[in-house]
Amino acid sequence: MSGAAASADPRWRIERRLDDLEATEHFAQALAAVLRPGDVLILTGGLGAGKTTFTQSLAAALGVSGRVSSPTFVLSRIHRAEHDGPDLVHVDAYRTDAAGVEGLDLVSTRERSVTVVEWGRGVAEEALVGVDGSWLDLELVDPAVPQAPAAPVRGAAPSDGPGAPEIITDFSESEEDLLGSARRAVLRGFGPRWAEGPQLP
Ligand SMILES: Nc1ncnc2c1ncn2[C@@H]1O[C@H](COP(=O)(O)OP(=O)(O)O)[C@@H](O)[C@H]1O
Ligand SMILES: [Mg+2]
Repeated sequence: MSGAAASADPRWRIERRLDDLEATEHFAQALAAVLRPGDVLILTGGLGAGKTTFTQSLAAALGVSGRVSSPTFVLSRIHRAEHDGPDLVHVDAYRTDAAGVEGLDLVSTRERSVTVVEWGRGVAEEALVGVDGSWLDLELVDPAVPQAPAAPVRGAAPSDGPGAPEIITDFSESEEDLLGSARRAVLRGFGPRWAEGPQLP
C-alpha cells in the first residue's frame, strides 16, 4: 500500500480485556450501537483470535440476515438488514491482496453498509476509505497463543519421543469451549469520522 492511509496515525486507542465469549459479544453489541452506514471496520489478529466470532455477534446486534461464517471460497458476503439500519458486508482478505480487495468493488456497497474486513490491515484501507480516509481497526489477541516470533517451549518433549501422547477418549466440550477464554481487544480510530472515540463500556 502506498497512499496516505498506510501512514496514518490513529486518533485514539481503546483497549479492553474480553474475559470470555460473552464479553466479546457485549463488546460487539456496544460497537454495533455506534456504527453507521458507510463505516469500515478492519479486523486484525491471528488465526483463531476471534475475528469471525466477533463479526457473528456484530451481525446479530445489527440485525442482519444469514449466518456469518469463515468464507472458504467466497471472499465477500453481504448480509442484508432485516429492519432499518445498515447491511453488513463481511470480507475475508486472508487469501487475497490489495488488488483482490479492490476487485470486490466494496465501494459500491459501502454507503449503505457496515463493511467488516478480516485480515484487512494494509490491504483494505486504500480500496475502501478513499472517500474520507476514516476507518476503525480492531485487533484481537489470544494471549494463550504465542505471538510471532514464537518462543521455543522449554523442556517440551519431542512429539515422537518417549512418553507416548495421552489417548484422549473424552470428546465432550470443555468449559473453555462453551464459555471461551480471554482475548485482548485494541480498537483504533482513523480519520475525521473517528475524531472522537466512541463511548464503550
Ligand atoms: N473471548 C473470546 N472471543 C472470541 N472468540 C473466542 C473467545 N474465547 C474463545 N473463543 C473461540 O476462539 C475461536 C475463534 O475463532 P474465529 O472467530 O474463527 O477466529 P478468527 O476469525 O480470528 O480466525 C472460536 O472457536 C471461539 O469460540
Ligand atoms: Mg475468521
